[in-house]
Amino acid sequence: MADLPGTTDRRIDALLTLLAENSTIVISGAKIAKEIGVTRQQVWRWIEKLRALGVRVKGHPRSGYHIERVPDILVPQMLSHRLYGTPFARRIYHFFKIDSTNAVAMRLGESGDPHGTIVLAEEQTAGRGRAGRSWTSEKSAGIYCSILLRPPIPPAHAPLLTLVAGLAARDAVAEELDVLPDIRWPNDLLVGGRKLCGILTEMHAEPDRIHYAVVGIGMNVNQSKMPDQLADIATSLRMETGKTHSRLELLIRLLRSLDRYYNQFLADGATPILRRFAEVSSYFKGKHVRITTPTETFTGTTAGLESSGVLRVARDDGRGIVPVLSGDVAEAS
Ligand code: BTN
Repeated sequence: MADLPGTTDRRIDALLTLLAENSTIVISGAKIAKEIGVTRQQVWRWIEKLRALGVRVKGHPRSGYHIERVPDILVPQMLSHRLYGTPFARRIYHFFKIDSTNAVAMRLGESGDPHGTIVLAEEQTAGRGRAGRSWTSEKSAGIYCSILLRPPIPPAHAPLLTLVAGLAARDAVAEELDVLPDIRWPNDLLVGGRKLCGILTEMHAEPDRIHYAVVGIGMNVNQSKMPDQLADIATSLRMETGKTHSRLELLIRLLRSLDRYYNQFLADGATPILRRFAEVSSYFKGKHVRITTPTETFTGTTAGLESSGVLRVARDDGRGIVPVLSGDVAEAS
């Protein structure tokens, strides 16, 4: 894990990883001290810090400590072990609380952090959504993750990146659900018409080159209910399945899947991505939709995607098929 003001102390990270990876045994204070690089006297203090974070660690007189239940905290060390071989294993920043992981990742993009850098938070106080909306980020209930990418593509192809991220998120959750999730263009994941996951892609680019892009993924995982104002439009994996899900396992699957789609996109271009989108999204073709852009609202029927990932819509008002570069898409009656 890299250091940045406010990030989780790497000793917390190391201690959690050590206890979690040895969850079936009592591990001695001396071994913990050696592994995480503190004195034996300090171990107790660090165990107390973990307890303050809600982790249940049992102390055994004279023999050591053991974790009663492995907490579902997105611990960078554990993640990077499991993401070995992908660009996402190299630099992971973790915060217990931050304004927005996208805001942090955009700053890291500016200051030169490498392709694949990950920013994670257990809680966001100013999570950013699309079109200037906010993203409700209840503590440790969802996945709040931003990925810094330096894609060697022109900005005109950026909508494809957005599709790539949506496909990866869709595959990650599909395994946990009995019903298949839908993708509402460009990349909202829906279950039973309610939103489970949203993705905000931001970038810094010149006309011919993307300096960096940040793909911010917000996934509702273990929320037991949604705030009143979202109750009709949002859901979580737990609300759909009635059980809790491991955010760590989901995130690993999501990032591994993102690695595969991203490499496929760079190697083979848009075609396999568009084909996959057509397979898994009911919004690809023939869906009656209402489109809201900053300048107008209109209805029409979706008519596939352009090779750049832009949505084509046959307008109801007879003005032909138009490209939709961005904007809100909603199913229309
Ligand atoms: C949407 O409106 O559908 C996009 C929501 C994106 C939310 C995620 S949570 C992690 C990352 N950090 C942010 O501030 N936003 C994105």
